[in-house]
Amino acid sequence: MKNKIFYVCQNCGYRSAKWIGKCPSCESWNSFTEEISVDIKKNKNSLSIEKPQLISQVKADTINRYFSKIQEFDRVLGGGIVPGSVILLGGDPGIGKSTLLLQVCSQFPIEDCLFISGEESKQQISMRFRRIYGDRKDLEIFTETNLEEILNVLKTKNCKFVIIDSIQSVHSDQIDGLPGSILQIRECASKLTEFAKQSSTAIVLVGHITKEGNLAGPKLLEHIVDVVLQFEGDKHYSYRILRTLKNRFGSTNEIGIFEMGDRGLMEIKNPSDIFLNNLINTPGVAISCAMEGTRPLLVEVQALVSNSGYSYPQRNSNGFDMKRLQLILAVLEKKLGMNFGNRDVFVNITGGLRVDDTAIDLAVSMAIISSYFETIIPQKAIVIGEVGLTGEIRSVSHIDSRIKEADKMGFQIVILPKLSSSKDFNKSIKPIFVETLNKAFEKIFNSIKYN
Ligand code: TYD
Ligand code: MG
Repeated sequence: MKNKIFYVCQNCGYRSAKWIGKCPSCESWNSFTEEISVDIKKNKNSLSIEKPQLISQVKADTINRYFSKIQEFDRVLGGGIVPGSVILLGGDPGIGKSTLLLQVCSQFPIEDCLFISGEESKQQISMRFRRIYGDRKDLEIFTETNLEEILNVLKTKNCKFVIIDSIQSVHSDQIDGLPGSILQIRECASKLTEFAKQSSTAIVLVGHITKEGNLAGPKLLEHIVDVVLQFEGDKHYSYRILRTLKNRFGSTNEIGIFEMGDRGLMEIKNPSDIFLNNLINTPGVAISCAMEGTRPLLVEVQALVSNSGYSYPQRNSNGFDMKRLQLILAVLEKKLGMNFGNRDVFVNITGGLRVDDTAIDLAVSMAIISSYFETIIPQKAIVIGEVGLTGEIRSVSHIDSRIKEADKMGFQIVILPKLSSSKDFNKSIKPIFVETLNKAFEKIFNSIKYN
């Protein structure tokens, strides 16, 4: 059979018979490369013996998960590693993917685990492992990039947990195309997935991130695997956050927080401690509580409002959605008569954290007001609430956990939406209910009385 040439978008896998500059599917430019179709013969004997079945008749096996004993990692996966699952871990180069996985592996008995690397030499890996554990632990490593060799070794070894660092470095002899091309990645990933399912081996594939910051380049890899994790962090901070983007065995809104130190990654068990500075009494600072999955997390919002030197004032946001910032500025102008037309506004969530929870809207608004008027927000107050388009303060979820966390961290006042359903106030934290931005402004900056 004659091989056919076609063009594939390296970002999303879209196929075209001729070369095109812009992908009609994912709209990325210059992403098409030439590939040659291969005739992959289906095994005729592998006809399925499965039949349609009623859900009630399906036996619900309880899954015995593996625990890495690195609690932040297990929790992000939904409570441990599911046998036979395939996990894709993406992240910027140098963020600590290999380090994290080496540490996870080290928790398993040596015979249960294999770390396969196509990126680093044995010497590099062992140097790093010794830096973390000295001679206290051991691990079996294998530096191979050929898929067939990898599968051969895996078949004889019978491991429970395997790392492939990275999927872009693996290639198969049976497929045309350079290592890292979309055809190679797709085929290698599906072969490894097939092996994982058949042998109940859990496999972690490390994936590179593209220039645009998309996980693992080809989107289609995300469809093949069971779990997609992203390891992220700000290069100016040592904190690293492990996020779930997809999880067939658990929720996708858990995060795990680590700190990169001299001896690898350390788990952060009480994140509220680290994201708060020492609560200095300075204009432009407001503290709020965001939910990250099931965990409340105290965050410090900083804002700076200054006279603009440009005809077009600057808006800059770090860790908070830019569109929401613009919306909040518009509401503040309209409802409180503030004027940002000739002022630059900068917002930052400290600690390199990125917060998507709208419950910190009110804290962002108050930090901006605080910087604008150069007045401080009382030190022991925490601000929770979503800001609506008409300036109303909307209620937020998990209010009780948020209040409890604030109480635990020694806050004395909580400013929260009037419609909050919480009854869980003890004597040490005083609630102040607000229904609009105007009311919040009044209560925080004018007439708050502490006693
Ligand atoms: P690495 O795990 O190689 O990142 P990735 O696999 O995501 O590319 O991480 C390497 C970085 O981590 C490197 O910049 C050095 C730093 N590091 C430490 O700061 N402390 C340590 O104990 C280790 C092992 C690495
Ligand atoms: Mg690496």
